[in-house]
Amino acid sequence: QNSGDIAERLLAHYDVHARTLPWRKLPGQGFADPYHVWLSEIMLQQTTVAAVGAYFRTFTQTWPNFSALAAADDADVMAAWAGLGYYARARNLLKCARVVVSEYQGQLPSYEADLLKLPGIGPYTAAAIAAIAFGRRAVVVDANVERVVSRLFAISTPLPQAKPDIRAATDSITPDLRAGDFAQAMMDLGAGICSVRSPSCLICPIQSACAAFRAGNPEIYPAKLPK
Ligand code: ADE
Repeated sequence: QNSGDIAERLLAHYDVHARTLPWRKLPGQGFADPYHVWLSEIMLQQTTVAAVGAYFRTFTQTWPNFSALAAADDADVMAAWAGLGYYARARNLLKCARVVVSEYQGQLPSYEADLLKLPGIGPYTAAAIAAIAFGRRAVVVDANVERVVSRLFAISTPLPQAKPDIRAATDSITPDLRAGDFAQAMMDLGAGICSVRSPSCLICPIQSACAAFRAGNPEIYPAKLPK
């Protein structure tokens, strides 16, 4: 099967099984608010989906857009962030909101290259926002995607050396259309079915394309250097 089949199967599965998360639109309902996508991606950088939910709601209720957040008192934002940890994220969040207001009229830019220049936005986050909020084709690789892709292609080089290969393999299966849904479908697959310890290959929508399933050893991926 070709690489387009993988995206097609995964998206068909996502259309039915996508997690309902407060920053998402339902599949096929258009793009979520870029402010919501940005805020959630920053919060999710070092924090679990379960822990982020309540903070996401508080932030969006208190500061509904970039202009509101840019005008907030620093101390109020730091207080609302308390408990999420990694406080540099909150300082960059404010810096970023203020740059978006002063340089982009309160609208997040949509190109990965522009996003990458903003405070607190690294390569993963820039790609995720470009794809999820703006529908741009971007190659989105987080730890869950690394695991899914290294299994799919049986990439046996250990991390971190395998990163360029994993990136190229992810690129090869990323569709031109619905790249944001595709990225989130990969994240959902990694968070659920394609779990670290006991992947549920029997219900996986891309089982038939998976080299590790075929070999019967998905748990050995991603390969790690011996400690
Ligand atoms: N982790 C980081 N970004 C995510 C997203 N958009 N959906 C689910 N998990 C995520």
